[in-house]
Amino acid sequence: MKKEFILALDQGTTSSRAILFNKNGRIENVAQKEFTQIFPKSGWVEHDAREIWSTQLSVLTEVIAKSKIKLDAIKAIGITNQRETTIVWNRKTGEPVYNAIVWQDRRTAPYCQSIAEQGLDKLIQEKTGLLIDAYFSASKINWILTHVRGARKLAEKGDLAFGTVDSWLVYNLTNGGKHITDVTNASRTLLFNIHTLAWDEELLKIFDIPASMLPTVCSSSEVYGETSTELGSRPIPIAGIAGDQQAALFGQLCTKKGMVKNTYGTGCFLLMNIGKKPVISTHKLVTTVAWKIGNEVNYALEGSIFIGGAVVQWLRDELGIIKKSNEIEKLATSVSSTDGVYLVPAFSGLGAPHWNPEARGTLLGLSRGSSNAHIARAVLESIAYQTYDILKAMEKDSKSKIKELRVDGGATQNNFLMQFQSDILKTNVIRPAITETTALGAAFLAGLAVGFWESIDQLQSLWQEEKTFVADKQTTYKTQLEAWKRATDTVKYWANYNH
Ligand code: G3P
Repeated sequence: MKKEFILALDQGTTSSRAILFNKNGRIENVAQKEFTQIFPKSGWVEHDAREIWSTQLSVLTEVIAKSKIKLDAIKAIGITNQRETTIVWNRKTGEPVYNAIVWQDRRTAPYCQSIAEQGLDKLIQEKTGLLIDAYFSASKINWILTHVRGARKLAEKGDLAFGTVDSWLVYNLTNGGKHITDVTNASRTLLFNIHTLAWDEELLKIFDIPASMLPTVCSSSEVYGETSTELGSRPIPIAGIAGDQQAALFGQLCTKKGMVKNTYGTGCFLLMNIGKKPVISTHKLVTTVAWKIGNEVNYALEGSIFIGGAVVQWLRDELGIIKKSNEIEKLATSVSSTDGVYLVPAFSGLGAPHWNPEARGTLLGLSRGSSNAHIARAVLESIAYQTYDILKAMEKDSKSKIKELRVDGGATQNNFLMQFQSDILKTNVIRPAITETTALGAAFLAGLAVGFWESIDQLQSLWQEEKTFVADKQTTYKTQLEAWKRATDTVKYWANYNH
């Protein structure tokens, strides 16, 4: 029988990837390319939107060539992407008017503060499920319209288009034919009403953004269009789109209310499926659209940690304590505790549930005997403690006890971190056989739309666990958790004092 595949395009913050999945949901081939990170000023992070597209196109071509398959063996393309990152381009030329402003970029923090000071936070949270923060797209679009010469005039004439990275990829894949996004990406802009599932005029007014710039919002699983024949002899249907964290939730098959996943990437992103009705958080989490398939919408509560696995890179690249990231586990477990050392890795502020943009990284509790090993252990523990804070907020918001945590992302290979995570949460941590769950989620969404897979029930049978980290229920971590709380309080106090 002829082999058939779904191609997932996973456009992340540091690299563009293309992954080919077979009918069993297994990986056939992968191609990956890193691209340039641009830091024009402290706190600013940009990407060249053209490079996002050129790297994505080149890995798409590479994975097909590597697999030695004909284009008609690819039944559909699913797209997943770094979210919130904002691109504005000219509809007439297809050229971006400014670099992509990346989700990590903090330049609009003062502007967001001014919106919050107008007392609009309640209204905005009610409509969008989000908090007013520079993280989301609206203030970034406003910045481009205000600071790029001529941009506002062009936007008012209807000549500019805004898109998150998914929109930009579809626009290019269809050779300018489609300007669309999906509900999950739209729900990260601060302009989208998650109850009506439509762009919200009042929000557009608040952020001073013309409606004509916005893409048409689609579901997460449908045939949106086909790739242009300029890209290859045969058009391929584009049939799935989801922001990367929602795609990972789907790829982990957290399709029932109460199921939670954590992706340990550069940052960490915890999402809990909260079912068909949005619950607005009272514990500083955000509510987001998890996916829309057919007419059915699922929502999620989300806690975003800005520095997760990136703290290990910091230990490697800035402190030089380890040479390779995977050396950290051996070093950290060469001591039996951090001996009172705590690291709060608030390198670019604190995300959920603190939301303090001015906070900065702090190492506490050093003594004359503190060693590289203690610091390495504190680095790993900091990832688990940040996750703990969010999971506890989720339990309070959802008024339920979380039974298990499904995990994915690079740092999940670290067994010490996974066991420690499980021990402090007193919850089992489950690592699946395929940890490329983001790309898998996008492939699932696309595959469902074209009948490659029949149903979510069929997908359930493809998900397999690799290892469960069973929580040690005997040891209490009360003292350590209290110390961690004092550490984050200290960081916030310092930030507020210095600002
Ligand atoms: O919200 C930001 C998130 O989507 C970025 O994910 O995996 O590209 O770091 P990642």
